[in-house]
Amino acid sequence: MVTGSATQGLHLVLSLLMESSAPVFVEDPTYFFSLKIFRNDFSSNVVPVPTDETGMDLDELDKKLTSMKPTHGSGASTERYWAVIYVMTVFSNPRGLVYSSVKCNRLVQLARKHDVLVVVDDVYNLLWFQPSEPPSKPLQPPARLLTFDKASDPDYGRSHVISVGTFSKFLAPGIRLGWLEASEKILSRLYTSGLALSSGSFNHYMSRVVSVAFKSGQITQHVEAVRKELSKRMDKLCDALEKHLPNGCSFVKPEGGFYLWLQFPTNVDTFEFLQFSAERYGVAFIPGALASASEGCHNCVRLSISALDEAKAEVGAKELCMAFKEYSMM
Ligand SMILES: Cc1ncc(COP(=O)(O)O)c(C=O)c1O
Repeated sequence: MVTGSATQGLHLVLSLLMESSAPVFVEDPTYFFSLKIFRNDFSSNVVPVPTDETGMDLDELDKKLTSMKPTHGSGASTERYWAVIYVMTVFSNPRGLVYSSVKCNRLVQLARKHDVLVVVDDVYNLLWFQPSEPPSKPLQPPARLLTFDKASDPDYGRSHVISVGTFSKFLAPGIRLGWLEASEKILSRLYTSGLALSSGSFNHYMSRVVSVAFKSGQITQHVEAVRKELSKRMDKLCDALEKHLPNGCSFVKPEGGFYLWLQFPTNVDTFEFLQFSAERYGVAFIPGALASASEGCHNCVRLSISALDEAKAEVGAKELCMAFKEYSMM
């Protein structure tokens, strides 16, 4: 289904498929604007689930789902789901992490067991880093969660995974165009909503423009160029961090997407450090606490390469390290 962006797709899904009192389980940390959507637009009870560099802690998720499941049943007779799990399984925002196939499988099993809906914010999955030198083996992009929810599985049920995508991350955010992938049954519910019927499509004009660009092969070529460019920027950022970061700081180099999650020593408050770094060194970042639904991650930051060229990524990383060294001496 064509949407007016990943955000609009997420909003549509929550409006039409989530029970009004449904809790929303999120990775902690997660995408901070989605937190605002769940809390401000839907008054949802947001339940943070601890997340490390491999993804959400699924044992914890299972426990939380078990303890919060309503006693009157799962709501399977309705079109709505009693709970939503919101995840980014490929090149997440803010951690840049990727779920293994084993983890994807288990997540789908849990969604079926508890009859909940998993909404995957899949906006970075096409942006794996591609070195300019062709690798000896073709690169395998990570598998998406949607591919694990197979209709041929004996316990498939009513389908439990929806993926929202966007052109914002490799074409232009201003065109407000995205898409949504789900089972036929779910799509038919979305297509017959009053909002969709009245609009016909959420962005007619731009979807026609982009489809012409697809047919001509221009989008494919462009995405390949974006992958190469991002790969170079991330290399510069990570090389500079490795060279200049003081002891006690750590990060995992991502394999795609825009973001790098940097952890400072636990006594650091990155909201406070942001002020220092921006004022004295002109280097800004997203403080981890902004992305945490549990008010954690106070010592972490999200760095982004989306608006930096290679030179700026390198200089920015170096200046950030200098800022931190000076800040930690105070
Ligand atoms: C995880 C995630 N989802 C959604 C969006 C927004 O996408 P769109 O412009 O399609 O609404 C972003 C943008 O930063 C994002 O990081």
